[in-house]
Amino acid sequence: MPSHPVSVVTGASRGIGRAIAMRLARTHRVVGVGRDRAALAQVVDDIAGSGGEAEALPLDVTDADAVARGLSGRAVDVLVHNAGVGVMKPLLELTPAEWQRMMDVNVNALYHVTRALLPGMVERGRGHVVIIGSIAGRSAFVGGAGYATTKHAVMGFAENLMLEVRDAGVKVSVVSPGSVATGFSGHGGPRASAQLRPDGGAAAVMSVVDPPPEVLVHRLEVRVLSPNRKG
Ligand SMILES: NC(=O)c1ccc[n+]([C@@H]2O[C@H](COP(=O)([O-])OP(=O)(O)OC[C@H]3O[C@@H](n4cnc5c(N)ncnc54)[C@H](OP(=O)(O)O)[C@@H]3O)[C@@H](O)[C@H]2O)c1
Repeated sequence: MPSHPVSVVTGASRGIGRAIAMRLARTHRVVGVGRDRAALAQVVDDIAGSGGEAEALPLDVTDADAVARGLSGRAVDVLVHNAGVGVMKPLLELTPAEWQRMMDVNVNALYHVTRALLPGMVERGRGHVVIIGSIAGRSAFVGGAGYATTKHAVMGFAENLMLEVRDAGVKVSVVSPGSVATGFSGHGGPRASAQLRPDGGAAAVMSVVDPPPEVLVHRLEVRVLSPNRKG
């Protein structure tokens, strides 16, 4: 029997990444990456409980050595860069540490994780890198000087990488959600009904992963249909 394709999901311990891991596990063996060991172990158990197969890989995506040790050389079909942090503050209130953390997790980690897995994809002539961007990656808002800057960088990274590796048979996609009801940046409070659910983000990821091999969905924006609708 052929073995399942393998997917790596960063930030699989909660929120959108957890939903992506659960959804991909219907068809893939999932490697879930994050720092919270207990939460990752729970995701692995939940996947096993649904008949899927998963592995927890606890690591910090900003740690280049840990990423190389944990991921280099693995044969991976789908890599979902989902790990992200957001501190929404005007620039003058944003501390150097907050700025640096957003740059490290949202931008620099793309380099570390992609560098670990892309060589194998290019060598095999197939693979798919999916990056979770944000509508903040093409718009501006007060408090977005740090976070929106990182998500603009994500858009640039994704399009440049797509042009670089498409002829090697590797797809690159960016999925950009609007507001999603997770614990991200204080979300998920009273506005939760006006937000996408994490499952909505996962469904969007599947809609870029599912098309046939010759079809590339490079950019996808996803929103809740009606933020003002009651119920
Ligand atoms: N929620 C929204 O409204 C929204 C909208 C558009 C885009 N997004 C994007 O969607 C992605 C997921 O957001 P979310 O709402 O699901 O956030 P979340 O619930 O806060 O989850 C963030 C995930 O990132 C992981 N993570 C953070 N720093 C990490 C690090 N240094 N190393 C490894 N993993 C790390 C966390 O895992 P550990 O704590 O276990 O490390 C966690 O699993 C982010 O890229 C975010 O920018 C979110």
